[in-house]
Amino acid sequence: MSTAPPTLPADLDTGFRRLRLGAMRRLSAELLVTAKTQRWAPEEFLRTLIEAEIASRDASNARERMRQAAFPVTKTLEEFDVTTSSVKPATFDYLASLEWVRAKENVCLVGPPGTGKSHLLVALGHHAVVSGLRVRYFTAAELVETLYRGMADNSVGRVIETILRADLVLIDEIGFAPLDSTGAQLFFRLVAGAYERRSLGIGSHWPFEDWGRFLPEHTTAVSLLDRLLHHAVVVVTEGESFRMKDARSKGGRPEPKKV
Ligand SMILES: Nc1ncnc2c1ncn2[C@@H]1O[C@H](COP(=O)(O)OP(=O)(O)O)[C@@H](O)[C@H]1O
Ligand SMILES: [Mg+2]
Repeated sequence: MSTAPPTLPADLDTGFRRLRLGAMRRLSAELLVTAKTQRWAPEEFLRTLIEAEIASRDASNARERMRQAAFPVTKTLEEFDVTTSSVKPATFDYLASLEWVRAKENVCLVGPPGTGKSHLLVALGHHAVVSGLRVRYFTAAELVETLYRGMADNSVGRVIETILRADLVLIDEIGFAPLDSTGAQLFFRLVAGAYERRSLGIGSHWPFEDWGRFLPEHTTAVSLLDRLLHHAVVVVTEGESFRMKDARSKGGRPEPKKV
């Protein structure tokens, strides 16, 4: 004999809906039966429902923060192999602690292509989201494009403030494309706005002394780096490109001859 699943009285169902207590609504009918048959204390019944609602809200907030972060790919710290990377284990542990985000410090990852800069940036961002922080990822080109759009309708200030609602703003691929003087000014405004207020995580294949190559004016480059590096952890990623190693291990490319 099969019994129909328990249903919730209509007024309770309506009340839960009106109060947007979705998890409590979904769980209540069955939990009422369990609580009755197992003679739960009333507090236990309430506690179970409330904990379920809190867990469900936390999960949906985390999903929403993950969406807003706009990561281009999913990368995690667990997937980052510290032993084969040039990032020192102590540095990696400090970055993974996210203390630098709480201290409004910046992290600058600099090194040649394929050495794990983007992986580490996205993975740190992912970890920050899971830890309850707000994160926003941009490539430098996307960021400048977003700020340019703000210029068109005179709202750059507001756009920057909106971006800086995040606890951590990640800007990757800095220097892939040269910036014109307006683009550089806009980038500077964001960095200045974040200074000692928010954390920036940046990735670039250009060492800082070469930033003049894509920032048109020397003074902008100097002022920008001054603010960026004042409270910053600089991590230089070195070594052979992971992409090349990967391609070789799949038989795509022979080992280059040592001469
Ligand atoms: N230390 C590492 N452990 C695991 N995978 C890595 C590591 N470093 C790089 N990779 C992988 O190699 C590829 C290239 O790395 P990426 O972070 O995009 O390099 P970069 O941004 O420095 O050019 C990615 O698929 C990344 O996940
Ligand atoms: Mg990259």
